[in-house]
Amino acid sequence: MKFFIDTASLAQIKEAQELGVLDGVTTNPSLMAKEGISGANAVLKHYVDICSIVDGDVSAEVIATDYDGIVREGEHLAALHPNIVVKVPMIRDGVKALKYFSNKGIRTNCTLIFSAGQALLAAKAGATYVSPFIGRLDDVSTDGVQLIEQIRVIYDNYAYPTEILAASIRHPMHIIQCAEVGADVATCPLSAITALFDHPLTTIGLEKFLSDHQKAAQKGVKA
Ligand code: E4P
Repeated sequence: MKFFIDTASLAQIKEAQELGVLDGVTTNPSLMAKEGISGANAVLKHYVDICSIVDGDVSAEVIATDYDGIVREGEHLAALHPNIVVKVPMIRDGVKALKYFSNKGIRTNCTLIFSAGQALLAAKAGATYVSPFIGRLDDVSTDGVQLIEQIRVIYDNYAYPTEILAASIRHPMHIIQCAEVGADVATCPLSAITALFDHPLTTIGLEKFLSDHQKAAQKGVKA
């Protein structure tokens, strides 16, 4: 399973990149706003800055919601860097635009997926990725991971090449569950990725190894 980081923070992207397990980045307008990035030029420059840190796919979301606007904006974003993936919302004009981008060889990520039917439409339109938001489904008492499972079955039934990019991940167990049910990618906050490193028995075990090594070394000095 590929690991993407879900942030527009250059510091966090660098930190994740240094861990050696990062395959890409997803952003959205809220994440860009959180970093104080506003204005067309600043937004475009920020995407280029992200692409210079990570050697992997970087999702850049369109703001337009009409077909012509989505196409215009998406083509502009795609021209910024070969790693840019155009993020398009799951709306009627968005699905039409997915088809257009797919015919043009421009890679896409269909965002705001909350049902299997939406994921099926996006795959039929040729989306490169679909982003089911599992945390937001859990927030409204619906099983987000179950949706990933459902989409996996549908895509496998028809050999759709669209990759399932599990999004809106809240904690490390979401990552494990997504891996169990066959998500292709998980896009996560840095905290969920780093939490995977930790286990108290690893900490205790390492302390014991190191103290035994030290004791043996001290014995060796005395002998
Ligand atoms: C996905 O690409 C979105 O940016 C993201 O995962 C949304 O997550 P949230 O529900 O934590 O805002």
